[in-house]
Amino acid sequence: MEYRNLGNSGLKVSVICLGAMTFTEKGWRTAGSMSFSEIKKVVDYAIDSGINFFDTADIYGFGESESLLGKALGNKKNDVIIATKVRGVMDEKDPNSRGLSRYHIFRSIDQSLKRLGRDYIDLYQLHWWDNHTPIEETLEALNDLVRIGKVRYVGISDFAGWQIARSVSIQEMKNYSRFISAQMYYSLLGRDIEFEVVPACEALGLGILAWSPLAGGFLTGKYSKNSPYPEDSRYSRMEKPFLRFDLNEAFSLVEGIKKIGKKYNATVSQVALNWVRSKEYVSSIIIGVRSIEQIKDNVGCVDWSLSKEDVGHLDEITIPKKPYPQWFLDLFADL
Ligand SMILES: NC(=O)c1ccc[n+]([C@@H]2O[C@H](COP(=O)([O-])OP(=O)(O)OC[C@H]3O[C@@H](n4cnc5c(N)ncnc54)[C@H](OP(=O)(O)O)[C@@H]3O)[C@@H](O)[C@H]2O)c1
Repeated sequence: MEYRNLGNSGLKVSVICLGAMTFTEKGWRTAGSMSFSEIKKVVDYAIDSGINFFDTADIYGFGESESLLGKALGNKKNDVIIATKVRGVMDEKDPNSRGLSRYHIFRSIDQSLKRLGRDYIDLYQLHWWDNHTPIEETLEALNDLVRIGKVRYVGISDFAGWQIARSVSIQEMKNYSRFISAQMYYSLLGRDIEFEVVPACEALGLGILAWSPLAGGFLTGKYSKNSPYPEDSRYSRMEKPFLRFDLNEAFSLVEGIKKIGKKYNATVSQVALNWVRSKEYVSSIIIGVRSIEQIKDNVGCVDWSLSKEDVGHLDEITIPKKPYPQWFLDLFADL
């Protein structure tokens, strides 16, 4: 296994992180679910292969994912790095069971700790921005959690570049514990973060944690254009794809990946994950699996690396259209 520093911190995380969103379908059916015996096998395999980093969230299965992760880790739970999140709606009827208020954060962390069976969270992440709470209130609450020992490090997820910059500026000004990570969607089919979020993170010392690196399983080669999607696969459960990409372009990308994979005797998933791994700003890749076979396949991406030429080729064929002001700034960068 390869280990990388999480952003500018001293914390070493495995380049593969196991996401626990697929452990339960309560709340989001399309993620699919797993039996507890399969979860246990997957978690044990992860640990045996050197994965020391696990990601979950309060809202995955309304707490069920955290409980299942804690149970599956058993007595190893204090020897690994656990990341969880706060922000989503935990109780539709209670207006305070959501968001990033001090009230909800303090209540939510105690519930997460209880479910995970831990005294502290290694990485506590804001799941996404809250328009209804002053960010100053949120950042002070997070800092207090670090001071009282319930949280070791703090991070964000799904923030815009300016939201990261504003938050970190306040943390610096107030001498608060700073964000060390940004959990963002990043795959060969979704490179939008390269424009605003990655430069913000590089400038401010946050490591990227790439979620849905296989675009929800599309980049595994198991979907084909002219036949029905495999039964019990994520895309067969979705009425409308959640991630945004052009289906025809995606199918031709998979064909291109297959060709590259042949050179390395590697699967489509391994090539797609290896491309994400080739980016230095990525601290860890959060994979999602539903079986022991899938985790074995995906973890296989750390045993070899794509050549610079192949990374360059994949960069080129998936290059997103540069939005304004990026193309303008590039044009006059050297003046
Ligand atoms: N912060 C956020 O907003 C956010 C959002 C989403 C996810 N996440 C995090 O990222 C983690 C991973 O997300 P994800 O599950 O969408 O990741 P993903 O790796 O893009 O997709 C995982 C899914 O692809 C299929 N799959 C994976 N490996 C396969 C293989 N080798 N062969 C065939 N099929 C394979 C499985 O689905 P099927 O077998 O069901 O087809 C699996 O559940 C989550 O657990 C969560 O921790 C965060």
